[in-house]
Amino acid sequence: MKIRTATVSDARALVALNQSVQDMHADAIPERFRRDVPEETVEHAFRAMIQAPSSYWLVTEEDQPIAFVSAEFREREESWCLVRHRVCYLAGIVVAPRFRRRGIARALLDEVKREADARDVASIELDVWAFNEQARQAFTRLGFRVVMERMTLSARTPNH
Ligand SMILES: CC(C)(COP(=O)(O)OP(=O)(O)OC[C@H]1O[C@@H](n2cnc3c(N)ncnc32)[C@H](O)[C@@H]1OP(=O)(O)O)[C@@H](O)C(=O)NCCC(=O)NCCS
Repeated sequence: MKIRTATVSDARALVALNQSVQDMHADAIPERFRRDVPEETVEHAFRAMIQAPSSYWLVTEEDQPIAFVSAEFREREESWCLVRHRVCYLAGIVVAPRFRRRGIARALLDEVKREADARDVASIELDVWAFNEQARQAFTRLGFRVVMERMTLSARTPNH
């Protein structure tokens, strides 16, 4: 098993890997996540994201890609309330179902940590939906700690 940087030629395989995760989000939150998006549309978006200067995408490969992580390195300018800082935002991590619980996410994250350290970035951040209990447990085991919570309130009035 090998970890390498993703290239645009991986886009199609990564879209396929991501499909069940997109479906899982669409099942859980249909009002927010799209379903049945044409594959070419997703592939086009993945290609653009892989090529973006701020992006850092890794693939785990056996004969073909079986997992990936997508991260973004960003410099945040000082604002009226925040100090200038660098962040590594982990936009996605997906391991093919039959390869889970073998340490692949941990190995990918170790690489991202190495890269973040080399770029003088102190921490890696991600967002995870509350329903995604398995991913939340895995992230906790991987050392992530909750630092912020997003809360929602239904704006619908009864009988609306
Ligand atoms: C979350 C995910 C990436 C984890 O990948 P993985 O390769 O199975 O994770 P690892 O094998 O490296 O496990 C890392 C740690 O998390 C734990 N872990 C992994 N899956 C877990 C689960 N379902 N429940 C509880 N703990 C879990 C492992 O035991 C391990 O901890 P340990 O080393 O202390 O034992 C994988 O389940 C996945 O692809 N899920 C679907 C995609 C997804 O939801 N991504 C996140 C969207 S924000």
